[in-house]
Amino acid sequence: MCGIVGFTGQDNALPILLKGLYSLEYRGYDSAGIAAFTEHGLEVIKSRGRISNLEERIRESGGMHACCGIGHTRWATHGEPSDRNSHPHLGGKDGKSGKIAVVHNGIIENYLELRERLEAHGYVFQSDTDTETVAHLVDYLHTGKKEDLCMTVLKAVSMLRGSYALGVVSIDDPHEIVAARRDNPLIIGLGEGENLIASDVTAIISRTRKYIILDDGEVAVVRPDKVTVMNAFGDTVEKKVQEVTWDLSAAEKGGYEHFMMKEMMEQPRAVANTLHPRIQDGKVVFEDEGLTDDRLAHIKHIHIIGCGSALHAGMVGRSVIENLCRVRCTASVASEFRYENPIIEPDDLCIVISQSGETADTLAAMRQAKRAGAYTVAIVNVVSSTIAREADGVLYLWAGPEIAVATTKAYSAQLGALYLFAIKLASVRGKLTAEQEKTLCDALYHIPDQIEQVLKTKEQMQYIATRYANRASIFFLGRGLDYAAAMEASLKLKELSYIHSEAYAAGELKHGTISLIEEGTLVVAMATQPELYEKTISNIREVTSRGAEVVLVASEDFEGDTSYCSYVVRLPKIPHMFTPSLSIVPLQLLAYYIAVERSCDVDKPRNLAKSVTVE
Ligand code: G6P
Repeated sequence: MCGIVGFTGQDNALPILLKGLYSLEYRGYDSAGIAAFTEHGLEVIKSRGRISNLEERIRESGGMHACCGIGHTRWATHGEPSDRNSHPHLGGKDGKSGKIAVVHNGIIENYLELRERLEAHGYVFQSDTDTETVAHLVDYLHTGKKEDLCMTVLKAVSMLRGSYALGVVSIDDPHEIVAARRDNPLIIGLGEGENLIASDVTAIISRTRKYIILDDGEVAVVRPDKVTVMNAFGDTVEKKVQEVTWDLSAAEKGGYEHFMMKEMMEQPRAVANTLHPRIQDGKVVFEDEGLTDDRLAHIKHIHIIGCGSALHAGMVGRSVIENLCRVRCTASVASEFRYENPIIEPDDLCIVISQSGETADTLAAMRQAKRAGAYTVAIVNVVSSTIAREADGVLYLWAGPEIAVATTKAYSAQLGALYLFAIKLASVRGKLTAEQEKTLCDALYHIPDQIEQVLKTKEQMQYIATRYANRASIFFLGRGLDYAAAMEASLKLKELSYIHSEAYAAGELKHGTISLIEEGTLVVAMATQPELYEKTISNIREVTSRGAEVVLVASEDFEGDTSYCSYVVRLPKIPHMFTPSLSIVPLQLLAYYIAVERSCDVDKPRNLAKSVTVE
């Protein structure tokens, strides 16, 4: 949530900061700003709305030229989106002619208390944000002292409660950026005669592929020719230099109108990247996940944790694991899991699912499970993200960068990772013969091709979208695995198109919510599990008799009466437990085309952010 970028070097920082901000816009896009050292001193330009508004404002001001600066794109927490609440915030008694500028990602929990104390010292606040407190606090601690800015920042952060990734600059040294982090991501890009700070690698990759990851409690001094990282005691620490392995083109639209369409089309490749290296000679092979046969044999309970689509993938995984392995498995919303005093025992396994690897609630839930003694395995896409680094074992998705806020390829890859885990566990626990394992592995191996086939429903889904784009409300029905997939399909639709939508366990609708079904309501029904076909048909009849129109997504072997349905989408043959990988695809396309039809911002839906680093 919120994107931070900073640059110090010889070239003009402005285009570099703006490019970095555009690539971080998925993290928040309600306002943006830049602070840079120009010939006029420390200049700040901010604007409500998208980065393009900020760019326009910079142009109107006659442009800026600077070799060092910081930038921010915001997802509002404290204070409405407005010019005033946009970052950077200035530190200084009148808050306007400040000597210090700060950008921040996270939440300062004790900001009110600090604000009162700073006001008592004469500081006048210009915004409603928690971040402005940090700017004034640094100014207060720095003014009149002959102390390096980094030492002041170290002192200031020791007084903060909450989470932060910070970029701080001071007019005392217009080539230096001080960066600090606790519970929010921050990396430092290492260039030739120039260095950067950023919330993630997409913002540095046009300048350098080399970077270091700042750890919690560390502070870095970033200058054009040198980066020094210190721990909370001020001791210098050696950091490992990492290298971005993917290409810049992977984070570009590549001719597609939206990242989301590009990423939906990339699903076969993304899922293959997760599955193929781990299927060898008809067996699932894990290497670095710490999932030894001995550990797998002794698991008593599996806790799956995630938020949003990651949780929905977890719900599919829960059902597949329990059915195939007969091990107790639960899927929990990370933000609830943390506070419901979960029973966790040392032989428990905690599977943490997160595309970004930075989601605050998921990270906190994982830490809690770890403290309670569970072994933690993270299913993560972003390499070296916090969750990946802190988990006991990692199962990387290798799905490539995902930019659209609404996830598609990472969700599909998460399903793949969970199937792999289920087969491995079932095999170790003697629930599958070698032959059965091979049959399932062969089927898994071919899922990418089958997704490719299902993507051909594109035109059909586009047509269906034109028919239903004006509906006020759309329901998704399914039982068992179809219910889990329906949850994801419904989320895709509502986040992209702003149409109210609910996913219901098909048998549950009649216990209240059926009162919302009226003439012309669209119900998307899913029927991919043979043992539930008849039940689902009855549920379809219940809604069509009340005037609903039904789009049915069904397996190739579904033989029920479809004459009640307006449209039927058939899926290729696949072991039924893997159908969520196919059934979600036409429904992602449906959500996409409905959103396009309604002129919604597909890649950046309102109020959302891709990486949710606040609780
Ligand atoms: C946000 C995104 C969702 C995502 C969820 C979890 O809400 O908008 O698309 O599923 O966070 O993100 P994670 O990175 O932990 O998978």
